[in-house]
Amino acid sequence: MHLSLASLPLLATLTWASSLPSPQHIFSNPEDPSSTGYRIPTVHESAIQARRILHLTSIGTLSTIFPSSQLPWPTENRPSDVAGAPIGLMDYFADCEPATGNPTILAISIATSFKNVAAGSNITLSLRWVPPFSHFKPPAHISAAALPRFSLVGQLEELSEEEVKSGHVTGCFVKYHPDAHAWLPGNRIHESKWVRLVVKEVYWIGGFGDRAYIGWIPLKEWQNVTEEEVKQCRLPGESKKTDAWWGSAWMASLFSAEEAVESGDSIWEL
Ligand SMILES: *[C@@H]1O[C@H](CO)[C@@H](O)[C@H](O)[C@H]1NC(C)=O
Ligand SMILES: *[C@@H]1O[C@H](CO)[C@@H](O)[C@H](O)[C@H]1NC(C)=O
Repeated sequence: MHLSLASLPLLATLTWASSLPSPQHIFSNPEDPSSTGYRIPTVHESAIQARRILHLTSIGTLSTIFPSSQLPWPTENRPSDVAGAPIGLMDYFADCEPATGNPTILAISIATSFKNVAAGSNITLSLRWVPPFSHFKPPAHISAAALPRFSLVGQLEELSEEEVKSGHVTGCFVKYHPDAHAWLPGNRIHESKWVRLVVKEVYWIGGFGDRAYIGWIPLKEWQNVTEEEVKQCRLPGESKKTDAWWGSAWMASLFSAEEAVESGDSIWEL
């Protein structure tokens, strides 16, 4: 399909207007889901999406709380007024325990997140789905607020040597993060160890509330997702196929965009 440059602003306006839910359903689900015209995925389907995001992404944000004392780390010069404050920092993880969905993390002793955990903090890993869009550049008006994101609230637990070996943890993690080879346990620069985030609670925002589930996912639902379900699941923007979870008007515009790019038209570069 050929899209002329002149038609683009109109297309963008129409698409944007028709894909935005009414304001009260942006961040929460409607009381009567059947009123929206969309089928809101079930909690279990949302758990499958979450587990697929865990499987396909490998970088997230670890949130911890600064302790009231900075004693074991006097060299850091930490301002005293951050005690009790949360801090979120990017870190690597890998999906190496498909039976439970507990993420595997390589904890570097000197990193702030793990210092806070050593001082007694609990920890939360937050993830978001960023579509690969390998086949076309997304138009600027696509709303990141419509895409899934979630947080895993839990505690860290060290893996035993036996678990590292039998779970092929090193190979699994390095497959996701080849550069992490430099700070594997036993390296000469930084002390590090393998831990799992033992997931206790899962908070999920699947996208706009009129077409996606927003709320807590029971731990059992998170844990009993099967590898086959994760394999079958497709996230918004992951493939070129129709995706009802995004809403049909929006998808129609995406297909137009794809076709435009496929026919050599570079309108989305604008
Ligand atoms: C960590 O979470 C557990 C519940 O999983 C709770 O009992 C404990 O008090 C929390 N620790 C801190 C330091 O908040
Ligand atoms: C997963 O766990 C939930 C909650 O216990 C249960 O309702 C559901 O039937 C389970 N699903 C599977 C596939 O085991």
